Amino acid sequence: MSMITIKNLSYQYPIVETDVLHDINISIEKGEFYAVIGSNGAGKTTFCNVIRGFIPHFYKGDLRGEILIEGKDIRDWELGDLSQKIGYVFQNPFTQISGVKETVFEEIAFGLENLGLEVEIIKEKVENVLKMLEIEYLQEKNPFELSGGQKQRVALASIIVMEPDILVIDEPTSQLDPQGTEEVFKIIELMKNKGKTIILVEHKMELIAEYADRIILMQDGKVVKQGLTKDILSDEDTLQYGSALPQYALFGIEMRNQNMDLGSIPLTEKQSISVVQQWMKKEGLA
Ligand SMILES: Nc1ncnc2c1ncn2[C@@H]1O[C@H](COP(=O)(O)OP(=O)(O)OP(=O)(O)O)[C@@H](O)[C@H]1O
Ligand SMILES: [Mg+2]
Repeated sequence: MSMITIKNLSYQYPIVETDVLHDINISIEKGEFYAVIGSNGAGKTTFCNVIRGFIPHFYKGDLRGEILIEGKDIRDWELGDLSQKIGYVFQNPFTQISGVKETVFEEIAFGLENLGLEVEIIKEKVENVLKMLEIEYLQEKNPFELSGGQKQRVALASIIVMEPDILVIDEPTSQLDPQGTEEVFKIIELMKNKGKTIILVEHKMELIAEYADRIILMQDGKVVKQGLTKDILSDEDTLQYGSALPQYALFGIEMRNQNMDLGSIPLTEKQSISVVQQWMKKEGLA
């Protein structure tokens, strides 16, 4: 089922003379995990802002084409309803902090309070999310006294606690170390396993290769490639659109170029080991 249907979407920011997004066509399916990739300035954040209705509800500009969220035109959605349907985690975690709450616990509870839920239910939901993201130790801290990585986790928690059907997450790991980054991907996978639809902007190809179902590759405001992760990230052609490939795929491609065909291009460490083992057997090397 298509959660988000986009047809011939173009967009021009106010004042700017040229379009920033050009004729985008895409269908986002329920329960799938999409990674949006592409170089700086490709239009990834702008694209996310269209999906979550920030464009056109806040940013005016000139929006053309059709954007349907669960079949209903985005212009006809109330922004309040839309923000319950689509949780958005900002590229900059500092932007997400409300500034009106004194502890992390209250910060995460803030959105639920606004929905007018009972205190007991709010407490239970916040406690569950604190546990899931392993940030219980932060609950009494002031949100402004957190490190960048801690802020990113609290920002993610404050969205997950709202249980939106669609999660749009813009570079959630920029402030995190490798371990923290892997943990965030595991949390996102958990969300996917709960049936959520995920749209994640990320640059870390090895992790995208491991976790994402599908890729949306953007360049200069266009979607230049879209499809299954295994197809897009194993294709040398992807490199010409300003995107990187996982190092395992580069290894596989280089082997093939050296006339050592592994049979398929691996994307992950596990796949690399397996194709190399098979190749060595075939070559009589093992
Ligand atoms: N509010 C704005 N008004 C006018 N132009 C903007 C605005 N925000 C972004 N742009 C321009 O739109 C283009 C796309 O920017 P966007 O932030 O969507 O790219 P991005 O792919 O998210 O980049 P990054 O990887 O650096 O986050 C850039 O050329 C940027 O300068
Ligand atoms: Mg961006």
